[in-house]
Amino acid sequence: MNTNIISLKDVTYRYPHAPGELPPAIDGIDLEIGEGEFVGLVGGNGSGKSTLARLLNGLLVPSRGEVRVEGLTTGEHANLNGIRETVGMVFQNPESQIVATSVEDDIAFGMENLGLPAPEIERRIDEMTRRFGLEKIRRSEPHWLSGGQKQRTVLAGVAALRPKVLVLDEPTSMLDARSQRQFRKLVDELWRSGTTIIYITQLMDEIAEAPRLIALESGSVAFDGVPGDFFSGVELLSKTGLEAPLAARLAAGVRDHGYTLPDGILTLTDLVESVCGR
Ligand SMILES: Nc1ncnc2c1ncn2[C@@H]1O[C@H](COP(=O)(O)OP(=O)(O)OP(=O)(O)O)[C@@H](O)[C@H]1O
Ligand SMILES: [Mg+2]
Repeated sequence: MNTNIISLKDVTYRYPHAPGELPPAIDGIDLEIGEGEFVGLVGGNGSGKSTLARLLNGLLVPSRGEVRVEGLTTGEHANLNGIRETVGMVFQNPESQIVATSVEDDIAFGMENLGLPAPEIERRIDEMTRRFGLEKIRRSEPHWLSGGQKQRTVLAGVAALRPKVLVLDEPTSMLDARSQRQFRKLVDELWRSGTTIIYITQLMDEIAEAPRLIALESGSVAFDGVPGDFFSGVELLSKTGLEAPLAARLAAGVRDHGYTLPDGILTLTDLVESVCGR
C-alpha cells in the first residue's frame, strides 16, 4: 500500500444553518486514501458525497475531527492554499467552473493565478489541449461548446495545475453517453499517469471496474471494498438505495431463469464474454 495522501479521523460535518434536530451531513467518518488510488464514491441523494468532496480540499472544514492532506490539517487556515493545490476539484456543472472567454484562456486561468511563467503556461496549454482533444477549439468561446467539450475544458484546466489528487463530483451527469465514456477514459488516463482519483457518480457503470468503492449512507461509510462485493450484497444495495450495474442485473435475471453464469459479472464485456466464451 502506498503512503496515505488523505486521511480523515472521526470527521463530522453539520451545515451551520441546518436545523439542530437533523443528523449531521457527515457523521464520524474515518478514512485513509493512499497516493495513486482510484476510489469510486457512491451513495443515494443526500448521503453526503458532495459534502465529503468539499471537506477533502478545505472548502468545508469539519465540525468535529480532522481531515489531513499530505499530513496537513484543513482546520489550519495557513494550510489551505497548499491543500487546494494538492486537491483539484471538478463539479457536476461545467458552467460553474468556466471563467474565461476562450478555451485556452480558461485552461490558463488557474496557472496564471499560481503565477506560473508565461512560456510554461503556453507549454501546458499545448499539452492539455492535445491530451483532452481540444486543439481544434482552443480559441473558441466556451459558451458555444457542447457540454462534453465544456467539461473537458474544465478537466484540462484543473489537470494543467497538476494536482496530486483529483476529486470529481458527478462530472458526467450532464453529458450524453458518448461524452460520458470519453470523459471517464480521460480520468482513467490521469489516474494511470499517477493522479489519485476520487470519483463521485450515480452511474454504477462508471465505477464497476474501480479498484476501490466507497458507499455512503446518511453521512457514514456503509461499504469500503471492491465493487464486486458491494454489488453482490443485496442488503447493502437496498440500504444505500443503489442498483447494481446493468450487466450485473442482466446476469442475475439470466441466472434466475436457471442458466449458469459465473459470479462477478459487472460490465457488458464480462457478460458478453461469459455468454459467448472467451
Ligand atoms: N448548503 C447546505 N446547507 C444545509 N444543508 C445542506 C447543504 N448542502 C447539503 N446539505 C444537506 O447535507 C446532506 C448531504 O448532502 P450532500 O449534498 O452532501 O449529498 P449528496 O450525496 O452529494 O447528494 P446528491 O446525490 O443529491 O448530490 C443532505 O441532507 C443535504 O440536505
Ligand atoms: Mg452531490
